[in-house]
Amino acid sequence: MKIRKAVIVAAGLGTRMLPASKVIPKELLPVVDKPALQLVVEEAVASGIEQIILVLNPNRTLGLAHFQPASALESYLQQRGKNDMLEAVRQPTRLAQFVAVWQSEPLGLGHAVLQAREAVGDEPFAVILPDDIFDCERPCLQQLLDISGAATPSVALMRVAERDIPKYGIVAVRAVRPRLYELQGMVEKPRIELAPSDLAIVGRYVLTPDIFDLLAQAQPGAGGEIQLTDGLLALSKKRTMLGYEFEGIRYDLGDRLGYLTAQIGFGLKRPELADNLRVWLEMTLRADGPRGRG
Ligand code: G1P
Repeated sequence: MKIRKAVIVAAGLGTRMLPASKVIPKELLPVVDKPALQLVVEEAVASGIEQIILVLNPNRTLGLAHFQPASALESYLQQRGKNDMLEAVRQPTRLAQFVAVWQSEPLGLGHAVLQAREAVGDEPFAVILPDDIFDCERPCLQQLLDISGAATPSVALMRVAERDIPKYGIVAVRAVRPRLYELQGMVEKPRIELAPSDLAIVGRYVLTPDIFDLLAQAQPGAGGEIQLTDGLLALSKKRTMLGYEFEGIRYDLGDRLGYLTAQIGFGLKRPELADNLRVWLEMTLRADGPRGRG
């Protein structure tokens, strides 16, 4: 069975990126010139996804607007023959079919995913957290689908430094082959001394619809929120779950340094920007060196 639907959770208040996220949902902040949300939709579509289910805060609906036509802007650009810009405006609307569901209260990631239950129906689906963006030769979600197919739930994994362990869902694993693990347990944002490994879940999941019953029964966990990780733990007791240490680079847009490095990393991939950006970086780093400013 093919996975057709991806749930993208974009309902948070983005408090770690204030004041930038005061008015603009943080998922719409640009990476070079594309909103992060568009980047992750493009990843999903490149992995075969046809329908995007956006979980949004009902007071912050601009995420959906980005994928809808903008008739006044389009006719303005059309009249002036600005075809490249017109194409850039229209492209997001053509990527997939878009559906919005609402999370009215910030009750946690597991609760956010549960709001997509009706829209997903009784089929396996992907979950994407747009704070995590990837630069991979094969899209990160595709890497998961390649190892797990639709029948086996799976998560993307990354090794993290010890001090970063309390920021993530951390898994206990049994190694199957290089990069591939069977999940034996998991815990959301553990203290370092309680962590079962240094393998963290990053924001790509392939899930089966039986997760919804488990999320509906879940009790508030870390931070008083309904955690997706707790639902996954319950799921892993019912069926085999896999974890895959993805191949590529991940940027954490929920963090100021991650946001900055994403601009540079993605900027260096753009042929029209890369040379000038590299020159500027080299000059700046040299000026900052021991014989630089002073
Ligand atoms: C969420 C998940 C966590 C995961 C992380 C990846 O946490 O709850 O398990 O490791 O995303 O980015 P958040 O970053 O929303 O606190």
